[in-house]
Amino acid sequence: MTSLDKATPRILHYVTPCFLSETISSRAGFKVYLKLENLQPSGSFKIRGIGNFCQKAKQRGATKFSSSSGGNAGLAAALAARKLGLPLSIVVPETCPSFIQEDLRKQGAQVEVFGSCFDEANERALAKAEKEGLVHIHPFDHPDIWEGHSSIITECEQQLESKPDVVVTCVGGGGLLNGVLDGLKKVGWEDLPVIAMETIGADCFNKAVEKGSLVTLPAITSIAKCLGALTVSKRTFECTKMFNILSEVVEDKEAVRACLNFAEDEKMIVEPSCGATLAAVYSGVIQKLQQEKKLGDIKSALVIVCGGKMVNLELLQKWKLQFGL
Ligand SMILES: Cc1ncc(COP(=O)(O)O)c(C=O)c1O
Repeated sequence: MTSLDKATPRILHYVTPCFLSETISSRAGFKVYLKLENLQPSGSFKIRGIGNFCQKAKQRGATKFSSSSGGNAGLAAALAARKLGLPLSIVVPETCPSFIQEDLRKQGAQVEVFGSCFDEANERALAKAEKEGLVHIHPFDHPDIWEGHSSIITECEQQLESKPDVVVTCVGGGGLLNGVLDGLKKVGWEDLPVIAMETIGADCFNKAVEKGSLVTLPAITSIAKCLGALTVSKRTFECTKMFNILSEVVEDKEAVRACLNFAEDEKMIVEPSCGATLAAVYSGVIQKLQQEKKLGDIKSALVIVCGGKMVNLELLQKWKLQFGL
């Protein structure tokens, strides 16, 4: 632990830029504002919610944390625990890339590799948490997490010159969407349409909207593993009755195409879960919704660039070849 880590900070995330992308706006034909959550210290928006959850847990007396996310939620948990000066025990499946295991260890987390999938690692982490009195950090399903994520929107309200016409985000387990909707309510923008993007094969929210009740996917077949919750949170489904949420899906190919376009346009690399959000602009989902009369006139869109570290140049190149892009 360095001297910088000694004082417990008031918030664990950064206030990120929200800027008008001239390049993407000219492609889209309307103003595109990017909220750059990829610039968060853990590489994604997750630190907002997980940081808030961990801070509150510490105030309630937590002394040790546990997690089972080998993804961006795990990275956020490791950062939050380190900044709060508390230990984190994390069980990740064998599928967790070694560069992420290394990142987790660098943050001071105690990493155990166990099981061939998330469920096996999660079961072990939960059993350990129970036995050793650790506070388990859920990756998306807790009100403190949604409260933390809601700061994305309260910040944007301060940063934007005026209210946008639409918000674009993505859905995994729904924690991000729940937070965005909470934020919209806080700033009085709850009438805004919100486009909730998923990839085919990681589309538990879209399936639930179609069916009219929660759906559990048999497996995640998309490469956007970070959108790979089998069932969306109950709260996210309930929100469909309270907000104007437009659930849309794209193929993996479109998510990867959006990552490549974004790298060209803005010189930043993001993972396919974030590519799913960006595909709403790059693959014409917004225009399609206008043609279907589900969206009215759009002069400006607020796009949540959720970020994510499950990507590197090698993976992008592999997907580029895989999808013939
Ligand atoms: C980069 C990224 N974007 C989006 C999501 C989806 O977030 P949620 O599970 O809160 O819906 C995740 C989840 O891990 C993520 O890592």
